Amino acid sequence: MAFAIDGRRLWESLEALGRIGRYRDDEAEVWGVCRLALTAADGEGRRHVVEQMKAAGLAVTIDRIGNVFGRREGREPLAPVMVGSHVDSVPTAGRFDGCLGVLGGLEIVRSLADDQRVTRRPIVVAFFTDEEGCRFGTDMLGSAVATGRIPLDRAYGLKDRDGLTVRDELSRIGFLGEADVALAPPHAYVECHIEQGPTLRAAGKDIGVVSGVQAISWHELTLTGRSAHAGTTPMELRADAGMAAARLNLYLRAMILSGRYGALRATMGAIVPRPGLVNIVPGKVIATIDLRNPDDGAMRRAEQDLIGFYDRVAQDEHVKITWRQTARTDSVAFSPKLQERIAAAAEARGLSCSPIVSGAGHDAQEMARLCPAGMVFVPGENDGISHNPREYSTPEQCARGVSVLADVLLSLAEEEG
Ligand code: GLV
Ligand code: MN
Ligand code: MN
Repeated sequence: MAFAIDGRRLWESLEALGRIGRYRDDEAEVWGVCRLALTAADGEGRRHVVEQMKAAGLAVTIDRIGNVFGRREGREPLAPVMVGSHVDSVPTAGRFDGCLGVLGGLEIVRSLADDQRVTRRPIVVAFFTDEEGCRFGTDMLGSAVATGRIPLDRAYGLKDRDGLTVRDELSRIGFLGEADVALAPPHAYVECHIEQGPTLRAAGKDIGVVSGVQAISWHELTLTGRSAHAGTTPMELRADAGMAAARLNLYLRAMILSGRYGALRATMGAIVPRPGLVNIVPGKVIATIDLRNPDDGAMRRAEQDLIGFYDRVAQDEHVKITWRQTARTDSVAFSPKLQERIAAAAEARGLSCSPIVSGAGHDAQEMARLCPAGMVFVPGENDGISHNPREYSTPEQCARGVSVLADVLLSLAEEEG
């Protein structure tokens, strides 16, 4: 008989975690979740999950970047199979992004305990620090440190917009752990996540077999002009940082429409003018740019052309443009063996599935540096909207994804050394 998780318990645990950091979102007109990394709400969410891990009999360790690992011993002292994701959120989140992977892993170990079943290999349920990158500027921070892409010192020194550092904020919320950050390679890593896009739902598929993740490039720009009177300053005497930011944003749209950069996606997510008042030419703008591309070559071309355009706009608009790369990852391919296994597990359960490239970044892409890694996607309702409180996957969609995750996890956990 197929291994059974408890779909209702999984759903209740998603709801319980979703109550932490809850806020009323006036734009979406629903309740949302705000557990921005290393805030008090994130601390509360983390403590809640740690308690659940301990109650499920897991031995919990916390590393020096605040990643949390809950371990269930196996029959043999072999490298563990790891399952996980993140519980921090963007400030305008729903209940599923990241949480499904962590609570799905927890549900699997609870179901194993119910069955009094012990696997050959240990199982580790993990959640990683600051996957979202909204606060300190760099996504997948905890998993990138654990897998050696970002040095711990650099991560500690990252600051939010108020100048607070990752290290101090980790300490303040009580998650500056003591375990070494260099993670010993697990036997494999698997993660279940909502798709965060419309594809699977539109195609009527139950499960997405994730083939990989597209490249990501983030810039933070400071555009400095001169603030001046909006009514009296002749147009030719202005150094309007707002106009410069608008031109960059329109250039992103033109890049997409040119068709020269493959399947590029580009977003100016923050445009913050100073002083930001009706009758003053903005003297300063802080802006961010997020580029995504499944093709690394096309991504590099897009980055080069965009950087060239910064100079042109600076000249034309008489502003100074400085920028820094806050995050950059190439595309990542997941283990073909795990993709096959995920597809086979879905089919064995009579679930429809299709391959899919992840549009979002994930901790699994960092783990792929250490060990075979794979991801199971579940469809989302409301056109798969995500990073928005209207994000929603049904209890059935979530349970199917975690059931497939469980099958793959358990087969890996019985493999020999
Ligand atoms: C993480 O959610 C991302 O921005 O892809
Ligand atoms: Mn996520
Ligand atoms: Mn996210």
